[in-house]
Amino acid sequence: MSKTRILVLVRDGQVPPASLDGISDTQLDAWKAEFDVCETLRNLGHEVLPLGVYDDLAPIRNAIQEFKPDITFMMLEEFHGVVTYDFAVISYLELMQQAYTGCNPRGLLLSKDKALSKKVLTYHRIPTPRFAVFPVGRAIRRPKKLSFPLFVKSVVEDASFGISQASIVHNDEALAERVRFIHEKTNDRAIAEQYIEGREIYVGVIGNSRLKTFPAWEMNFGTLPPEVARIATSSVKWDRGYQKKHQITTHAAKDLDDATQERISKICKRVYRALSLSGYARMDLRMTDQGEIYVIEANANPNIEYGEDFAESAESIGISYEALLQRIINLGLNYKPAWMNV
Ligand SMILES: Nc1ncnc2c1ncn2[C@@H]1O[C@H](COP(=O)(O)OP(=O)(O)OP(=O)(O)O)[C@@H](O)[C@H]1O
Ligand SMILES: [Mg+2]
Repeated sequence: MSKTRILVLVRDGQVPPASLDGISDTQLDAWKAEFDVCETLRNLGHEVLPLGVYDDLAPIRNAIQEFKPDITFMMLEEFHGVVTYDFAVISYLELMQQAYTGCNPRGLLLSKDKALSKKVLTYHRIPTPRFAVFPVGRAIRRPKKLSFPLFVKSVVEDASFGISQASIVHNDEALAERVRFIHEKTNDRAIAEQYIEGREIYVGVIGNSRLKTFPAWEMNFGTLPPEVARIATSSVKWDRGYQKKHQITTHAAKDLDDATQERISKICKRVYRALSLSGYARMDLRMTDQGEIYVIEANANPNIEYGEDFAESAESIGISYEALLQRIINLGLNYKPAWMNV
């Protein structure tokens, strides 16, 4: 395998150390994904330079000019604390004619805005829950087509930010209260969607034009009491103690017949193309008891930490973590942005 020079962009403060000697679990949590990527790329024989970025583009420019990377591995999920600015950082790399891993600017822009992406999906008749958007400072009026229960969340935040049992609302008063809560917490729009009762499924997709989906992965809500809705709240997603207490795990979705697997895979590829994604992504879906599949969201550049859903589902079909990262690098090197056509 040829040696590649790789600049790894990470959030300032999340530059991983060279070794794990003397590191506690809590310290590790802060930059585990960054460590896994840098360490694995080095083990593959590549030359790796991690760079912490917060709100300044100059260090990126300097690193591109001095280190002369063949490609930049994008692990930044925000710029200046704004989660929707990753598209701007990737645009900057494109303007610098620098190859990068993961999604292109348009795909990031479309997929990071839940309202915009659902409008595109609806145009393509891809099943996604009905919804309404509530801008800040406007009267909160529920359109007639939306009936309860509804699910209220932020249009732009991710990582289950602001998602709890209270996100499910059953009347107009609770809807208005939750919408105001999102407005206050994010200073941005809230979205209310039809609440989809059902199984929680994640599907990894990789590719630029030729796409591959990984096996459907499912969240098992373990021993959560029956009155608790089966949704991925921030405690379910991130709180290790809570996960352990309730035996919450993710694993290959069981009992899906071939036709259902195929239907899921097709929908995920359609979403990927509809939203102009490239590189790799993870689709979040819900599947009802009747077998209806709804697209909840598309995550461009999802978490690629070793052992997390995306990497695990790849590994389940024989794609090792090393092979997965190498594939992501190759896809980045092969992606043809507009400047190459001039
Ligand atoms: N319309 C819905 N019906 C049922 N559950 C939903 C709905 N929308 C969201 N959820 C639940 O809330 C979780 C988080 O929602 P979503 O994926 O849209 O937000 P996010 O904050 O971007 O999450 P992520 O952690 O994947 O970035 C989903 O995984 C699902 O369990
Ligand atoms: Mg999600």
